[in-house]
Amino acid sequence: MITLTTLNELPIPAFVSALSSLFEHSPWVPERVAGLRPFASNIALHHTLCAAVTQADEAEQLALIRAHPELAGRAAIRGDLTPASTSEQKGAGLSACTREQFERLHSLNAAYNSRFGFPFVLAVKGHTPDTVIAALAERVTHDAQEERSVALREIFRIALFRLADLVEESLGTAIIALCDDLARYSEDKNALTCSYLTPAHRATADRIRDFMLAAGLNVHRDAIGNVVGVLPGNGQSSRRLLTGSHYDTVTNAGRYDGRLGILLPVAVAGALRRAGVTLPYTLEIIAFAEEEGVRFKSTFLGSRAVAGRFDQKVLQSLDAHGIALGEAIRASGGSVEDIPAIARDPKQTLGFVEIHIEQGPVLLDAGLPVGVVTSIAGNIRSTVTVTGLAGHAGTVPMALRHDAAAAAAEIVLAVEHRCSTDPGLVGTVGMLEVPGGAINVIPGRCHLSIDIRSGSDAARDTAVADLSAEIEHIAQRRGVAIEQRRVLEVASVPCDLQLQDAWAMSVRRVTGESARRLPSGAGHDAMMMAGLTPIGMLFVRCGNGGISHNPMETLSVEDAGLAARVFEDFLRHFAVSV
Ligand code: GLV
Ligand code: MN
Ligand code: MN
Repeated sequence: MITLTTLNELPIPAFVSALSSLFEHSPWVPERVAGLRPFASNIALHHTLCAAVTQADEAEQLALIRAHPELAGRAAIRGDLTPASTSEQKGAGLSACTREQFERLHSLNAAYNSRFGFPFVLAVKGHTPDTVIAALAERVTHDAQEERSVALREIFRIALFRLADLVEESLGTAIIALCDDLARYSEDKNALTCSYLTPAHRATADRIRDFMLAAGLNVHRDAIGNVVGVLPGNGQSSRRLLTGSHYDTVTNAGRYDGRLGILLPVAVAGALRRAGVTLPYTLEIIAFAEEEGVRFKSTFLGSRAVAGRFDQKVLQSLDAHGIALGEAIRASGGSVEDIPAIARDPKQTLGFVEIHIEQGPVLLDAGLPVGVVTSIAGNIRSTVTVTGLAGHAGTVPMALRHDAAAAAAEIVLAVEHRCSTDPGLVGTVGMLEVPGGAINVIPGRCHLSIDIRSGSDAARDTAVADLSAEIEHIAQRRGVAIEQRRVLEVASVPCDLQLQDAWAMSVRRVTGESARRLPSGAGHDAMMMAGLTPIGMLFVRCGNGGISHNPMETLSVEDAGLAARVFEDFLRHFAVSV
């Protein structure tokens, strides 16, 4: 491998030759970007290379597509492929097709070629002969324009995979670049919002799958939308260590919440594989499809399924457009019937460890890059509907009003007041809405949410009971109806002591300092996984005053790199320390 730093400094011909294997027989692609160096990351280099192809004229694009060999075609049989193509085709089992598979491939290839005038190009990593045949059978039906852009997209994926094994960059740089890259997929043009099973969410899942494939993992997407990457062990233990976090986000989110806990392990797993290190156990990295509860108000969907705690009743939950969760899963190609089978066998599981940005200021204030989590606060969430009486803003005297928004305002203040009485307690009204409200109409209805958390379940339950009594009181006094619906109740969860110690030892080995231990006020997928297997968490310092659930959330390259070294150390010592 060559380092990115070296690549950035090479004379142009050496740069072009170093990247000559990325795009089949097409040195003009790296030639066009050589003058745009230095590249900050592999992903930045990849984007620029792809942009050069996108900006090339049609004849050049066609020449690039035509430079590719036919899959399992004559060149492959003759042994005439580039080394990269040979190993890719072999990896997908194309060098060992059955006679029927060969015949089917050859007849489809011929039909494809005569329809489009260029060979069928597919990034075969993660494919088998049967899935290659299925893709070919589908793509041969495309129109020419559509198919050319699909072929180019596949060429870009091939280059991404080849680049990962060709150019080495620091883990911190890679992790931040991958998080930044994922943030491009959003429902909102000007902010990062990625809620469950939206087109942005599907695109994010596809991109994570590609990052996992590039790291050399075996990848699949399960029935609920989790993307799972597996790094096989050496067989010493048949049990698996699980890690991961969520890839959905809140509305107008930061880039690292959840995603760090996926992309950091992917980067570390890729580095281990490239270094030829095989762990004594299999490592599974799970990108959980849903944790935040934004679209259906049902949280932890991905980790509940893996932990065997998925409640079929939530399939009826509706989003803001009246689409049921079960319907959305089916429409995305998932299958609700297959969700129970996602559950892991606790006997086959060694534990679950989650790496997460702290989302608060404790490590920042202490000047520490990482910390070990001791417990995760419990949480009760409710949605509340206040129904008053809509009326004319100019004619109804103040004393005769049943203003739903004014009642909601009292509830907001009651939550704030009650939760300020105990330092371990926090309460938030994060959603507050007058549906169909107008400037000259007394609000007849108001929707709001209440989120109450504490490290002590008893303290939290008392606060929730007190608030319910207060809300009842507000309803009576104002003559409005208030309906509360509990949408989440999770108990606080302690982290496993042995896993805490294992993290702490890794922190000490890497930093030379003893690890700071701290509780988590935020909820995490680890809470659900605790029902399945022992859990442990590593927090990474959150910059910018510790702000999170906000686009101002930041994480430094150095801290990401250090956390990656801690994780690598943890993995290497895991079997002996736990
Ligand atoms: C998850 O982000 C939470 O709300 O704690
Ligand atoms: Mn979050
Ligand atoms: Mn999170």
